[in-house]
Amino acid sequence: MAIEVNGADVAAPDDPRVSLLDLLRDHLHLTGTKVGCNQGACGACTVLVDGARVLSCLTLAVQADGRTVTTIEGLDPHPLQAAFVAHDGLQCGYCTPGQICAAVAMLDEVRAGVPSYVTEDLSADPVALSREEIRERMSGNLCRCGAHNGIIDAIAEVAA
Ligand code: FES
Ligand code: FES
Repeated sequence: MAIEVNGADVAAPDDPRVSLLDLLRDHLHLTGTKVGCNQGACGACTVLVDGARVLSCLTLAVQADGRTVTTIEGLDPHPLQAAFVAHDGLQCGYCTPGQICAAVAMLDEVRAGVPSYVTEDLSADPVALSREEIRERMSGNLCRCGAHNGIIDAIAEVAA
C-alpha cells in the first residue's frame, strides 16, 4: 500500500507513531501545511484526505495508507486562493493553507447537503450559505491576525 500525496505515491512510514503532519512537513518537505497548536485546536494543519478535511496533527500517517492526501501545494491554483488575496483574507498567512483546505472541503459539504449547527432549514437543498453559516463551518480554523472578515468574504465570493 502507499499514500497518494498530491498525485505521487509515498510509502507509509515504518514508525506507526508518525503523524500525517510530520510525514508531510518533515519527511516530504511539504511545508505549506502548518504546525500551530499540534493538538487539534487551531486548524492550521488542515489537509484533505479523500476530499474530506482532517487535522493532520491528530491523524497518524498510517491511517492515510491507501488513501489520497491533498495539501495546499496540490490545490494550486484554486479560485479560493485568488479570492483570499482579493479580499485580504490573510495577514501573516500562517493559517491560510489550513483555511483554504478547510474551505474547499466545506464547500463540498454544503453541496452535499450537510447541515451545520446553525442551519435552520434542514430540508433546504442546497443549504443557503449565509455569513453565519460560513463562520460556523469555518470555526475550527483560527486566525490570530484577525483576518476572519476577509476570509468570510473570500469564501462567500467563491461559493456564489
Ligand atoms: Fe493541528 Fe492546530 S496544528 S489543529
Ligand atoms: Fe495570520 Fe491568519 S493570517 S494567523
